[in-house]
Amino acid sequence: MAVDVLLGLQWGDEGKGKIVDVLTPSYDIIARFQGGPNAGHTLVIDGQKIVLHTIPSGIFHQRAVNIIGNGVVLDPVTLKKEIEELEALGLDIRSRLLLAKKAHLILPTHRVLDAASEKAKGKKKIGSTLRGIGPAYMDKTGRNGLRAGNIESHRFDQMYEALKKKHLDLLRLYDYDFDLKSMEEEWWEGIELLRTIELSDCEYYINEADKAGKRILAEGAQGAMLDIDYGTYPYVTSSNTITAGVLTGLGLAPQRIQRVIGISKAYCTRVGSGPFPTELHDETGERLRRAGGEFGATTGRPRRCGWIDMAALKYAVMLSGTTEIALTKVDVLNHFAQIRAGVGYRIDGKETSNWEFDMQHKNPGPVYKDFEGWMSESEQWQDIDDCPKALQKFIRFIESECGVPVTMISTGPEREKLILRSGALV
Ligand code: GDP
Ligand code: IMO
Ligand code: MG
Repeated sequence: MAVDVLLGLQWGDEGKGKIVDVLTPSYDIIARFQGGPNAGHTLVIDGQKIVLHTIPSGIFHQRAVNIIGNGVVLDPVTLKKEIEELEALGLDIRSRLLLAKKAHLILPTHRVLDAASEKAKGKKKIGSTLRGIGPAYMDKTGRNGLRAGNIESHRFDQMYEALKKKHLDLLRLYDYDFDLKSMEEEWWEGIELLRTIELSDCEYYINEADKAGKRILAEGAQGAMLDIDYGTYPYVTSSNTITAGVLTGLGLAPQRIQRVIGISKAYCTRVGSGPFPTELHDETGERLRRAGGEFGATTGRPRRCGWIDMAALKYAVMLSGTTEIALTKVDVLNHFAQIRAGVGYRIDGKETSNWEFDMQHKNPGPVYKDFEGWMSESEQWQDIDDCPKALQKFIRFIESECGVPVTMISTGPEREKLILRSGALV
């Protein structure tokens, strides 16, 4: 069998959690390959809202094995909270969760370094979720990091103390007050919990499962425009959020990858700093935020809102070899008489449809194409043919611009609010 991928095509929060949850019955394994607790993936099950940060979004289906891959950076504190919350719902988590030994650990001092670095940046701050993601990946690439498998060493305490000391030395460079004691206490409790989860050489597990015909879905976090290489650098996260990240983050060869499902909202949001050419600073942006409930699942911050940016979307489709699109939050646009799609940018009087180097210094003005809104409720739509003509036209436009089909149309947070078109899974 082959491995399918599901990832965000915008600046995150496209609705990955919901779509993974719906697709999970078609898979044996769901695997997170990058990011960490900066992610917040929302599932709405029987009217109850659950936000997952580290655990893959397949966890609500009893049959699936959920893997936290080596490309993920893991905070034992968040993982412990997440597991306890899910267990309180009566779910058996630990027997269906595998943790890659090579996944790097987020230490309390990584979180402090994240906060100190953001504070020092002042107006130029990234708008990080302050979960210690950047500093943890810095230690990974700097070859200083601690990995989940290290907890099995009798020297683990010493390894921790040595890395903590490095961090404390670094923190002297900042004007930043902190109190580590309680953070450390809960961290060590988290480490104790890690000892109750199966640590695995996941690269073997996943390749053997693939050979044995198991169906595997790799679940992305963040989105293409937050990718460390191709996103809006430096206003990005610290991992590869595109399909390439699946290979290093799970130990899979490129030819194993089959379908790449890219997710995009029917409009666009971003949380944190950085360029967003189609952002709306007016009443329409406010309406999108209200209608879409656009407040961060991890930090609660209001998300910046604007129209869909087709130039950025095409860039993301290209980078990830996207084979199909899941279009989400279509219902949020139900009552907009006019809908716009950014098709390019005006930079210094010239038009371009490329996402250029250093956009934040170029002040790109959006070039729009206008669409008539569909002005109707989505409750009754079961099939694409039930959708209003104006929506069908908007979808055809996205398909022709991106060169791939829109196989899923999501019209609400709940599982059942999903229109599957021919060629879609499930
Ligand atoms: P993720 O990080 O990509 O998993 O997305 P988030 O969970 O951060 O944000 C998506 C938000 O939109 C969550 O509150 C979801 O419950 C919600 N959502 C997902 N799909 C839809 C949809 O089609 N319509 C509406 N109205 N809400 C949706
Ligand atoms: P999901 O998986 C939206 C943003 C932060 C910040 C930048 C860097 O839920 O889509 P970091 O904490 O990684 O140092 O933050 O990236 N960011 C996200 N925005 N959704 C996410 O995840 C995000 N994860 C990080 O707001 O601008
Ligand atoms: Mg999210």
